[in-house]
Amino acid sequence: MKLNDLFSVEGKVVIVTGGSRGIGEMIARGFLANGARVYISSRTADVCNATAERLQADYGSQCVSIPADLSALEGIDGFVAEFSSWEDRLDVLVNNAGVAAGGALEDFPEESWDRVMEGNVKGPFFTTQRLLPYLEAAASDDSPAKVINIGSVDGVKVSPFPSVSSYGPSKAALHQLTRVLAAHLNQRNVLVNAIAPGPFPTVMLSRGFGGGGDVENTDWGKARDLNPRGRVGRPEEIAGLAIFLGSHASDYIVGEVITCDGGYVSAGARFDLRGPE
Ligand SMILES: NC(=O)c1ccc[n+]([C@@H]2O[C@H](COP(=O)([O-])OP(=O)(O)OC[C@H]3O[C@@H](n4cnc5c(N)ncnc54)[C@H](OP(=O)(O)O)[C@@H]3O)[C@@H](O)[C@H]2O)c1
Repeated sequence: MKLNDLFSVEGKVVIVTGGSRGIGEMIARGFLANGARVYISSRTADVCNATAERLQADYGSQCVSIPADLSALEGIDGFVAEFSSWEDRLDVLVNNAGVAAGGALEDFPEESWDRVMEGNVKGPFFTTQRLLPYLEAAASDDSPAKVINIGSVDGVKVSPFPSVSSYGPSKAALHQLTRVLAAHLNQRNVLVNAIAPGPFPTVMLSRGFGGGGDVENTDWGKARDLNPRGRVGRPEEIAGLAIFLGSHASDYIVGEVITCDGGYVSAGARFDLRGPE
């Protein structure tokens, strides 16, 4: 069995929600660099359009921007209507779009709770539901379609940050939704798995570390200190796992939540190898 037969995503039709920046852009780049046709979506149309143009120019593979708010049915249905004017099948759906909010327990706002749950749980559920006919059109026993939900280590392990948040609970819900959808869609040849990333240097994480969303100028020192590998994740590390889950090589993997976190969840102790001063 050749590497290319196992891991090729050439010619696959891929959607990456939240593909305009951050982890979504990293994943979109991975698929485009390997010959997939990629559709990206985010709410901010000009940013989404500019990213798609840049990625298509970088890789020479088709990258289409379909701006939409995927936290509500109206936006999801509009997105699917536009997608259907381009394609009649979908090989890989990456439910990556997500939002975070933090605050003090005593005055954590209802609006933040709802916004995070709608963006991180409701959105992926209804996006998958509405795209199911396209996934099934691509799916067969020998070549299943794939759904990859982007969860978080915060859905597995309580965040070390002092603020309370609906983010971790929303990601734990997405991990369980992954298992539920996986069970329901397995026999229909649509395989659902999740990736739970650790720290990747993006707008979202920059805000969490006090950098205000300025990725270049954020001090990532604290993120490095908290991580057993002593660094944040690199684009190819998240893209590689997504490509694996989108390719033939993962056709017997169903309903898993796979961490990509430098050992933060499963090998979380970071020993001081310098020993006593
Ligand atoms: N970075 C990390 O360390 C980390 C760790 C664990 C998990 N994650 C997860 O990875 C995913 C990507 O995070 P990121 O760090 O790359 O965040 P990011 O830089 O904030 O990017 C989020 C993307 O999602 C889009 N988006 C947000 N809400 C949307 C909506 N309602 N409809 C459509 N698009 C929407 C954003 O664009 P607009 O704002 O223009 O809509 C943007 O493209 C998220 O699910 C996040 O929870 C990230």
